[in-house]
Amino acid sequence: MASEQTYIFDPESSAELARLINQDRLVTAAMGGPLAGLPPLPKKAQVLDLACGPGGWVLDAAFERQDCEIAGVDISSAMIEYANARARTQQRSNASFGIMNITQPLDFTEHSFDLVNARFLMGVLRREVWPTFIAECLRILRPGGILRLTEGDDSGITSSLALETLNTLGIQALWQAGYGFSPNGRTFGMSSGLLGLLQNAGYQDVSLKATAMNNSAHTDGWADLYHDHRIMLTQFKPLLIQPGLITDEEFDRLYQQALVEMHADDFVAVGHLTSVWGRCPL
Ligand SMILES: C[S@@+](CC[C@H](N)C(=O)[O-])C[C@H]1O[C@@H](n2cnc3c(N)ncnc32)[C@H](O)[C@@H]1O
Repeated sequence: MASEQTYIFDPESSAELARLINQDRLVTAAMGGPLAGLPPLPKKAQVLDLACGPGGWVLDAAFERQDCEIAGVDISSAMIEYANARARTQQRSNASFGIMNITQPLDFTEHSFDLVNARFLMGVLRREVWPTFIAECLRILRPGGILRLTEGDDSGITSSLALETLNTLGIQALWQAGYGFSPNGRTFGMSSGLLGLLQNAGYQDVSLKATAMNNSAHTDGWADLYHDHRIMLTQFKPLLIQPGLITDEEFDRLYQQALVEMHADDFVAVGHLTSVWGRCPL
């Protein structure tokens, strides 16, 4: 497996940490809770969240299932320090966090977990690393345990022309850089790619669950979406300029325009996520 840092953003950045806190709030609520849509976990289950970021999903799952042990790992010491601090202040003693590079063999013994969860690894794992990663998840699952992967096939659909232009360039940039499974770079191609990978790896009962999010003007999610995009687009700038997809000046113009258009009274933003899950054979 690859050993260099492959995340498209700086995992130690405090801006990225703040962005992930906003994003987690939006996504877990839209999905109906941390464990919604999954078969019920057994009592005292062992659960792992890979690339857990600031730990929101782990803490929500630990609150919901206080009989279970929920662990999160991430490469970023900033994320893990923050997540540990939150676990302490919330007195969530069944939640734990540690540093781990998930592009390396996972540092857990086989058959350790009833549920392995991961969200938004599209920009973490290059496409050639995924088969080994999915095999590693199968190795650490108990028989009957579940792997659930939640990803987007695009960056959402909005009424802002400037945001749509930047998002389209972002999809192309990531595809050219080796991320996602689209055959031609039109989308991220994650749901179809992961469905095939789980089936080929020997998971059983492979299934999909879709989540739709409305983060338009005047919704509860608008502010989190706005701050997420404000930070994410800034972080995306070098990824678009370096391969020559846009000039510095054109990026800045579209970025300012996107922020204005997101403030419009009639701004519409719809997001779609797909969870792909499968079971480790008994
Ligand atoms: C898009 S964020 C997703 C965070 C979290 N799963 C969530 O849904 O809120 C990607 C996370 O992957 C982490 N990461 C990046 N490269 C990693 C690696 N090689 N091993 C483990 N974590 C990594 C980053 O630090 C970041 O927290």
